[in-house]
Amino acid sequence: MKKSLEEHAARFDEKAGAYDDSKSEEYHACANLVVEHAAAEPDDTVLDLGTGTGAIALALAPDAARVVGRDISEGMLEQARQKADEASLENVEFGHGTFREPDYEGPVDIVTTNFAFHHLSDDEKREAIDVIAALEPRKFVLGDVMFFGDPDPDDPFYTPAVDDPATVGTLADALTDAGFSLTAVERVHDQVGVLVAERNPTGSDVAADE
Ligand SMILES: C[S@@+](CC[C@H](N)C(=O)[O-])C[C@H]1O[C@@H](n2cnc3c(N)ncnc32)[C@H](O)[C@@H]1O
Repeated sequence: MKKSLEEHAARFDEKAGAYDDSKSEEYHACANLVVEHAAAEPDDTVLDLGTGTGAIALALAPDAARVVGRDISEGMLEQARQKADEASLENVEFGHGTFREPDYEGPVDIVTTNFAFHHLSDDEKREAIDVIAALEPRKFVLGDVMFFGDPDPDDPFYTPAVDDPATVGTLADALTDAGFSLTAVERVHDQVGVLVAERNPTGSDVAADE
């Protein structure tokens, strides 16, 4: 992690009020893919990590039984709570939690994250993926800054001073080492994509039983 949790939280506290008006076309494409791949169903509990102002959590809430959003920035969480109130969404809850310590106990069907995982170092990403796998969701949808080619700080989305994105290969290794199968890879930009990781995806039960 290029900055401490406290430094990242302070940075996002400062941006919180203007955050929703600062998004790129690629951000929206990535967020839409995360929501689409999450494909929440009426009985599902969704955990959205690095939830920020709740873009993913609030989009999934109408389709899910319950959505839990976790973040380290109280400023971002406050915006998310306000938006949930304005939309009269009562099945969504926002609170403090990190990728490696989500501070959530209970069943989770789907874990999502969008544009946040790149704040962790590659070792920390592995630890976080292990924590997520231990929650036993059927699916983890990871949208983020990630490298499909060579990292290029002159291209958008990668600011080496604050960000620590991984290559798609590094993420795929960590996900499969944690017991997930990679079931979709979506390239939004050379430095932005969505990975869908599932436990026991349709069809694999048969193979596993043989
Ligand atoms: C660019 S925002 C993305 C917010 C939201 N997911 C979205 O799609 O709009 C990144 C968020 O990640 C949060 N964050 C950074 N490091 C984190 C960590 N280690 N654990 C949890 N949240 C973190 C920040 O506070 C910030 O709200």
